Amino acid sequence: METEVLKVDPLRPDRELVARAALVIRRGGLVAFPTETVYGLGADGLNPEAAKKLFAAKGRPQDNPFILHVASVDQAWALVDWDRARCPEGERGAARLAADLADRFWPGPLTLVLPAAPVVPREVTAGLDTVAIRMPAHEVALALIREAGCPLAGPSANASGRPSPTRAEHVLEDLGGRIDMILDAGPTGVGVESTVLDLTRHPPVILRPGGVTAEALAEVVGELRELAPGEVGEGPAPSPGTKYRHYAPRVPLLLASRLPPAGLERLLAEGKRLEQAGRRVGVLVADEEAPLIPATWVVRTVGSRSRPREVAERLFAAMRDLERQGVDVILALPYAEEGLGRAIMNRLRKASSGPL
Ligand code: TXA
Ligand code: MG
Repeated sequence: METEVLKVDPLRPDRELVARAALVIRRGGLVAFPTETVYGLGADGLNPEAAKKLFAAKGRPQDNPFILHVASVDQAWALVDWDRARCPEGERGAARLAADLADRFWPGPLTLVLPAAPVVPREVTAGLDTVAIRMPAHEVALALIREAGCPLAGPSANASGRPSPTRAEHVLEDLGGRIDMILDAGPTGVGVESTVLDLTRHPPVILRPGGVTAEALAEVVGELRELAPGEVGEGPAPSPGTKYRHYAPRVPLLLASRLPPAGLERLLAEGKRLEQAGRRVGVLVADEEAPLIPATWVVRTVGSRSRPREVAERLFAAMRDLERQGVDVILALPYAEEGLGRAIMNRLRKASSGPL
């Protein structure tokens, strides 16, 4: 199959181009589309056959469900079985809490997990009785959902296990020839995926840290719980995607366990050892460390440590870029684990093949 790439304006998408993409979706095809976080791979979220194609195109494990992307709150709530929504003890019911969260964070990088209505195919939920829903803050995504007339199942548009795509080129690199179309609206803004919040438990649980910080969520939710690194949660895996190695470049990525300056010293020592052993060394660091890296190494910076948004935005592209430079190994440094730093560290840990 030939993958058609259509360039679209990120703010005022051409209606004719959106209509062409929507037709592909309605016919059960796959269209990669931009969101504010990363590119998604869109399929008709109510069509089981289309969902099956998503697993095949990405090489995704069958037990990992998809997020349904909506363009309105009404469209979102129609996917939920409210009778099964467990009321958080006390003041607010689950419906009220979901409404408050949607009010504050949608459109935006927050995904809510709620009991699934019967209309949601089990191919989308991978057999779970819950469904993950979000309204993306991107004009192209919203226009496509509206025009297609259905919620879009939309995993990140990378091959399973690879760094998420923040540019259309990344999608083409991983999925070219396996999907019908890519809507190219330039680089995405947030750079890490949405925060996944499970509202079927009390207190609500952050299954995946992402573009909306725990601090911001707590202002609306009150008490909430975060999964510790490596924790999959009690019972059956609550967010199946969290158990796989993920976001990984094709070459080993070694992550220092300590922040600079200690982590940097370690990185420099290990890099010298690897270089002497004949390896081409790549490093993924912040602006602050870049001047201290030997000139013979390949350096990619993700911006300043004082601007985590910049780091999030550039993280995945920098990994792919280093791998393209033909390095044998990528050495990376950690970031402070607060605010967006939690999502950044979650992605780095999953991308890493071991400690430095
Ligand atoms: O920002 C994002 O969320 C991007 C853009 C394209 O919207 N999408 C994305 O989708 O990251 P994906 O499929 O790569 O990751 C979805 C995550 C996975 O960890 C999956 O296991 C979890 O959401 N998930 C989906 N449905 C779930 C459910 N019913 N219960 C728990 N976790 C669920
Ligand atoms: Mg993904």
